[in-house]
Amino acid sequence: MNAAESNAPAGRMKALRAHARGGAEQLVYEDAPVPDAPTGSDVCVRVKAAAITFDELTWNETWEVDGVDRTPTIPSHEFAGVVVAVGPEAGEFAVGDEVFGLVPFDRNGAAAEYVLVPSTSLAVKPAGVSDVVAAAAVLPGLTAIEALEEPLGLVSGQRLLVRGGTGAVASFLTQFAHRMGLSVTVTVRSLASVDRAKQHGADEVLVADEPAGIAAGSFDASIDAVGAGTPDWLYRAVRPGGRVITLQEAPDADLAQKCGVDAAFFLVEARADALSRLGADLAAGDLEVAVAKVYPLAEGRAAYAGRGQSEKPGKTVLDVAARES
Ligand SMILES: NC(=O)c1ccc[n+]([C@@H]2O[C@H](COP(=O)([O-])OP(=O)(O)OC[C@H]3O[C@@H](n4cnc5c(N)ncnc54)[C@H](OP(=O)(O)O)[C@@H]3O)[C@@H](O)[C@H]2O)c1
Repeated sequence: MNAAESNAPAGRMKALRAHARGGAEQLVYEDAPVPDAPTGSDVCVRVKAAAITFDELTWNETWEVDGVDRTPTIPSHEFAGVVVAVGPEAGEFAVGDEVFGLVPFDRNGAAAEYVLVPSTSLAVKPAGVSDVVAAAAVLPGLTAIEALEEPLGLVSGQRLLVRGGTGAVASFLTQFAHRMGLSVTVTVRSLASVDRAKQHGADEVLVADEPAGIAAGSFDASIDAVGAGTPDWLYRAVRPGGRVITLQEAPDADLAQKCGVDAAFFLVEARADALSRLGADLAAGDLEVAVAKVYPLAEGRAAYAGRGQSEKPGKTVLDVAARES
């Protein structure tokens, strides 16, 4: 591909931005410069849908690169859209391709009309999969696929404990782990979530954040799909030599040593092979992708502020295409 095939935008675009570190209250819907024309392997995408992971506003990469402030920052790294320009080394991608993917966390995200993404961080969106569903599936889907490979590394018949079974990452973890033949136990906060976790393939659902009845050392691995503050019982539940994976903060090394477990923080990567696998599963209709609520981009601040308020489980998604129609 070359610049001649580019429909690169110029001038200003609408974006959701934060000019100072903080939460949803910092987000403003405003004009921002469109990204520079893509160079190297970058691709410029006209965003159609961008999904939210609420904890992203707590991630350091959202605010800094190599210790340097990068505000104003655009959040929401999970997207679906259309390629409008490609860098000279963007490989197979062409203007007009419908794609979905994950923007690196230390770059501006997709809560904007246009976003620059490395071509290695996106895949062709399968026909028949909506932009909203593709965007909603990207981060939790990739996290589940990749965490079940190397860091958890379990095989059929082994036991996995997932904390926070109603969340986006946990929902995908349960679905993929069930298909791998793992025995999956999930914890949820309310009785109302039990059926949903079972529909995803959980063998056992425990309603409590300090579940009684988990025998010490009775799981081969555990993963905290809630976020920060991983509780002690998630370590104690795992047999000596087993794995404890955290997703939001570093594990407690002392506790891990005491329990004889191998604990590690895992960070997802936008791997092309994992994206393709996710795309194939979405195309086959093999995954439940729950969407709690869709907001227009202009209401992005309300979308972020709505954490924990939705009556439905699932991802919150920004419909970026809505403002153009
Ligand atoms: N390291 C990585 O690569 C990576 C990738 C993706 C996500 N993450 C992190 O992983 C975490 C989960 O992400 P997500 O997108 O799945 O978030 P999410 O959809 O908001 O899920 C979190 C879930 O935790 C549940 N929860 C909260 N407190 C709980 C408790 N005490 N017991 C049981 N469940 C509880 C909530 O359930 P309710 O429905 O009851 O409120 C919510 O559904 C976040 O911290 C995120 O930053 C990390």
